[in-house]
Amino acid sequence: MTSTVPDVSTPAGIIRLGSAFCDAKALLTAVELDLFSTLCAVPAPIDEIRDRLGLHGRGLSDFLQLLVALGLLEKSGDRYRNAAGADQYLVRGKPSYVGGFLQQANRNLYRAWDRLPDALRTGKPQAVGDFSDVVGNPERLGHFIGMMDALTQVLGPELVGALDWNGQSSVLDVGGCRGNMAAHIVKAHPHLEGHVFDLPQMEPFFTEHMENSGLTGSVLFHGGDFFRDPLPQADVVVLGHVLHDWDREQRAFLRRKAFDAVGPGGALVVYDRMLDDEPTHVENLVISLDMLLVTDGGAEYPVSEIRDHATVLGASSVRVQPLGDYDTLVECRKTVS
Ligand SMILES: C[S@@+](CC[C@H](N)C(=O)[O-])C[C@H]1O[C@@H](n2cnc3c(N)ncnc32)[C@H](O)[C@@H]1O
Repeated sequence: MTSTVPDVSTPAGIIRLGSAFCDAKALLTAVELDLFSTLCAVPAPIDEIRDRLGLHGRGLSDFLQLLVALGLLEKSGDRYRNAAGADQYLVRGKPSYVGGFLQQANRNLYRAWDRLPDALRTGKPQAVGDFSDVVGNPERLGHFIGMMDALTQVLGPELVGALDWNGQSSVLDVGGCRGNMAAHIVKAHPHLEGHVFDLPQMEPFFTEHMENSGLTGSVLFHGGDFFRDPLPQADVVVLGHVLHDWDREQRAFLRRKAFDAVGPGGALVVYDRMLDDEPTHVENLVISLDMLLVTDGGAEYPVSEIRDHATVLGASSVRVQPLGDYDTLVECRKTVS
């Protein structure tokens, strides 16, 4: 998928790009109001939408028409209905729901981006509070998990299909959150023993998720700090959307530790929104700036960083492939003995 930007060789295109945050905020507001869940299976005229959502009514027609123009709603007669994509991905409770990412973007990233100039001047993150505040507050941790689940929900089937899992007997997802990616992998390949390593505060969320997924006992949780505590060994060790939270030295430390945890003949598998050496990919540059705004030293990084390090670590081969629309997967194999 390629990102499109308006024609910025014209004043109209430049102004349009400068107003793109309004389009985004319209979508984020619709998700915050849970408009798409409200309209799921029950198209409604404007007055009914106003009443269902408890809105004033002023501006509502323009708001709904903007969502039509953005392709998120459709209108037939006087009734608004969800367009196909909104109906599949923005209705709460559907397994394909990605609104968790948007809700957290609205709560956290939207405000942080307002402070981009401060981040660029100081090099300091601008989000309210740091990750220890999130981890220490179950409600905020739940919001964070919703954001991560939205990503792994899309990438799970991609990762399942991207690797040859035959001949492997275990998988460890380091920084695996509440185990959503591990659940995808083990469901598709039940011969695998699943392991998730994450901060101890994640365990109750993990336990509940495994119960709901019917995977209790098939995926095990290991609580700890990956900078201080040992990692369990596994044939395939995954580091997904983890390295971009940290600075270059910390990324190298985590890669070494994860590669050491790989059993003979296994692989370290990294996925992230990696950048080209001369990056022009709008979506991934935006995510890299997200990392500037919400972490102390994180950023997206080029594939070459992993490739070069894999040689130092002694990987027998390195394979790179796209994963989903925006991510890159790097598989670093370990020799059999
Ligand atoms: C950005 S999320 C990635 C989640 C998931 N792997 C994915 O693909 O989206 C980073 C994960 O690393 C975990 N984490 C952060 N610091 C950690 C630490 N010091 N030790 C263990 N896990 C940590 C977080 O709790 C979170 O689940």
